[in-house]
Amino acid sequence: MANHLLEWIKHPVLTSTIVPDSKRLSRLIIKMADISDADAVVELGPGSGGFTELILQNIPKKTKFFALEINPRFVKHTKKRCPGALVYEDNALNLKSYLKEHRLKHCDCIISGLPFTILSYELQEQLLKTIREALSPGGRFLTYTYVHRMNSKGNKRLRQLFEKHFDKLETSPIVWKNVPPAYVYCARKK
Ligand SMILES: C[S@@+](CC[C@H](N)C(=O)[O-])C[C@H]1O[C@@H](n2cnc3c(N)ncnc32)[C@H](O)[C@@H]1O
Repeated sequence: MANHLLEWIKHPVLTSTIVPDSKRLSRLIIKMADISDADAVVELGPGSGGFTELILQNIPKKTKFFALEINPRFVKHTKKRCPGALVYEDNALNLKSYLKEHRLKHCDCIISGLPFTILSYELQEQLLKTIREALSPGGRFLTYTYVHRMNSKGNKRLRQLFEKHFDKLETSPIVWKNVPPAYVYCARKK
């Protein structure tokens, strides 16, 4: 079974934190995602499956859902925590080929636990371009960042990329009771 601290020791950049995200942060990101009537939802980097569990509780039966997670131990963990969830062991960059496999042109909502602010500029750009192309018109992309990274270069670049690839950006209040405190970005495509 995956353990955040152990996985962080082995893959610090990919894992990003030593503890799973709080219920409060998970609830906020799912509420902002507004998925109660979505046709297709995708999760990137589910980690230990906290968001996945709530996504499954908040989508109707008709909604198609799958997740892409690069770390096999987290894939196993999320599948065990959320039986029936489709969790593929793969890089989020391959999102479009999974949409195709599911006979989907687009999805309405992408929820991400990927550690965007510590990724290289090139990877941030590739991922956001892939995400925008995967979303339907009116689609939304949700991710979060930690307060201590608010003024980092990575977060500034991320905001610039939101401006370049998306049409509207909403920022949530800070969830102080998350460890570390965090806030959510919801970027929309027209
Ligand atoms: C901060 S953790 C997710 C935290 C999650 N919300 C939780 O509570 O466990 C980031 C996750 O993204 C995964 N990840 C990082 N880069 C990835 C990539 N390019 N494709 C897919 N998954 C990736 C990591 O393996 C890790 O599970």
